Amino acid sequence: MSTHTTVSYCAKRTLSAQATRCLNPDNINPHVKEAKYAVRGELAVKAEEYRVKLAQGDKSLPFDSVIFANIGNPQQLDQKPITFFRQVLSLLENPQLLDRPEALRTSFGYEQDVIDRAKVLLADVQSVGAYSHSQGAPIIRKSVAKFIEERDGFPANPSDLFLCAGASSGVSTILNVICNGPQAGVLVPIPQYPLYTATLSLLNAQCVPYLLEEEKAWGTDVNAIRASLEKAKSNGTDVRSIVVINPGNPTGASLGLDDIKSVLDIAAEEKLVVIADEVYQTNVFEGEFTSFKKRLRQLQQEQPGKYDNVELVSLHSVSKGMVGECGQRGGYFELVGFDPEVAAQIYKLVSIGLCPPVIGQCLMEMMVNPPKEGSPSHEVYKTEYNGIRDGLHKRAMALYDAFQKMEGVECQKPQGAMYLFPTITLPPKAVEAAAAEKRAADEFYCLRLLDATGVCVVPGSGFGQKENTLHFRTTFLAPGTDWVERIVKFHAEFMAKYQ
Ligand SMILES: Cc1ncc(COP(=O)(O)O)c(C=O)c1O
Repeated sequence: MSTHTTVSYCAKRTLSAQATRCLNPDNINPHVKEAKYAVRGELAVKAEEYRVKLAQGDKSLPFDSVIFANIGNPQQLDQKPITFFRQVLSLLENPQLLDRPEALRTSFGYEQDVIDRAKVLLADVQSVGAYSHSQGAPIIRKSVAKFIEERDGFPANPSDLFLCAGASSGVSTILNVICNGPQAGVLVPIPQYPLYTATLSLLNAQCVPYLLEEEKAWGTDVNAIRASLEKAKSNGTDVRSIVVINPGNPTGASLGLDDIKSVLDIAAEEKLVVIADEVYQTNVFEGEFTSFKKRLRQLQQEQPGKYDNVELVSLHSVSKGMVGECGQRGGYFELVGFDPEVAAQIYKLVSIGLCPPVIGQCLMEMMVNPPKEGSPSHEVYKTEYNGIRDGLHKRAMALYDAFQKMEGVECQKPQGAMYLFPTITLPPKAVEAAAAEKRAADEFYCLRLLDATGVCVVPGSGFGQKENTLHFRTTFLAPGTDWVERIVKFHAEFMAKYQ
């Protein structure tokens, strides 16, 4: 049910129903009401209303399509699924097709490696309609471990891996274990993906914000982290963990080796669990991705003893990268350096939810173990994968170039992920007009943008931003340049109106 439907349904509550129902907005868990999640907030609801109006033939709007640039949802914006993945999934969903291999090959163009992969996965999971092991099917965890080993050059153990229903579910699991009371605090980068602040609100724990450095391509600032940590500790917060999103959302920043080391240094000194959200690890345009696990293992070799106590959780997902299968809900997290008894409790916690979606697990297996060079599906896979990767880079640069030309807009060069997060400097009259509507100025700007162009972006306040700065976040997933032109035109008119 969409948020919009929920809202209109609730609006129909009658007084008598209110009197007889157990639940009303004032007696539900207050932490649910406190949690904020701007990427699916008011703007997204309004954008969906516009989409429905257009679909019903409404001609009164000043645009003919809605562009959902508010959320990293690639297949909503025209990205095609990778053929190999979907062919295997189709066989997993309908194994009877495997009885007709000739038809699959000749009528549908399925290659032998598609059929073979489906058989291997089915031999392990039996049916995608059956619960699997709570940590995820063993064969799939084995593939993930192999992928991590090849990526990092250090061993990985399938028993340290937990497959999950997207990285979101993994984050929730870990924060549930870390947050042991209202004093528990977690260092969260600002700006951040609001999953973290929202989950901490739900858990009634403390978000300890640390500001990223916009001027240094949104890098991490060790001093800012230490200052936030000290301030929180002096206020009685028990800071237990630090979140790092690399490559960054909403910033798009990709962290270098020194940045990663400084976080690991602080974690080692202060006994902090590092939560490394690495869901954008293949969306890197500048430099090379280095995982926190790899850097940790390097440092453990270079300086024996110093990093032995570091606990690290590293997360990945099928939602991003060139896969973009957000709706299938596949992800994993790897525990590094955890006490086995804590790991056992994490296992118990995930087992309460029985198992992650088995289809999502199978997709994860294919993501980490795609068709190899020389196998029949490899050529098409490579062409599709590279096409998506190059297309994303091109779109990022086109949007960045457009921002360069806009008055009062400054943007860091895209390095990775799926987003740009420009600063906007708005004329005082626009800020006053926003205040008159009791809105933050960036929210006001984004609402006017949506009303005028159908382009839905998210105000910087939804991610957190340095005081007295304004931003918005947009994905660069939408195809074509028309929507970028709409933003440029709107911006010029907005600035002229409030000059
Ligand atoms: C930084 C970050 N982490 C986690 C997620 C959630 O991903 P998933 O779809 O795997 O739950 C997102 C989604 O946009 C994200 O941007």
